[in-house]
Amino acid sequence: MARKVFIAGNWKMNKTAAETVELCKALKEKFADICPNCVDVAVCPPFTSIAAAIAELKGSNIKVGAQNIHWADNGAFTGEISGAMLKEMGVEYVIIGHSERRQYFGETDETVNKRLQAALKYDLKPIVCIGETLDEREGGKTEAVLEKQIKGAFAGIKECCFKKVVIAYEPVWAIGTGKTATPEMAEETHKFIRKVCAELYGEALAEEAVIQYGGSMKPENSQQLVAQKDIDGGLIGGAALKADSFHDLVKNAIA
Ligand code: 13P
Repeated sequence: MARKVFIAGNWKMNKTAAETVELCKALKEKFADICPNCVDVAVCPPFTSIAAAIAELKGSNIKVGAQNIHWADNGAFTGEISGAMLKEMGVEYVIIGHSERRQYFGETDETVNKRLQAALKYDLKPIVCIGETLDEREGGKTEAVLEKQIKGAFAGIKECCFKKVVIAYEPVWAIGTGKTATPEMAEETHKFIRKVCAELYGEALAEEAVIQYGGSMKPENSQQLVAQKDIDGGLIGGAALKADSFHDLVKNAIA
């Protein structure tokens, strides 16, 4: 079965609840011409804007995700949000292990794995982020870094659960920098990621896995990137913050 394109907007720490209502109204209108059979679309606002996004996007083709999840069910974890809390709100997706969390908030492969297990327990669809830094790429370590991140994230995760996970490959040097990986470079890395998944879960499941690209994807390059055999969509930062650019990026990606 062909993989379905999946494009998600990671709003990061942008958009208050009032700004979310405004953006979602515009998205709902714009995305009316996008065929839901051709692409899955989601937006991931900050926690405080999730309720507004869910209310505003009800009845549209756009789903809502969160940007993080804690591994415990509840307890003394000041500032954290549990799977039960997200599920109750109607959240469908959750981003795990974004490079900004790894870089600024001490996220490790081990905590990514724990968060992934919690997301699966609460039946949220996880988007697990991996990616190398510029130093690592220039030092020829890209494959070793990605392999370690994949094996760490999926430790103890069974085949039935692997099927529910989306992987987002986001080269850190391409995030917010305007430097996109060339489609060929991204494709080569996606192919490698699929190979590691095949080692862990077999060829058939690896073939079905949705692997997004993230890092300066925009309306001008989404078509070329998503046209690559192993690139199944995108995780979008900057270009997801405006209805026009997010819509055009998605439309071009499936053209
Ligand atoms: P940009 O699209 O702004 O480069 O961000 C990508 C990203 O980090 C999405 O998670």
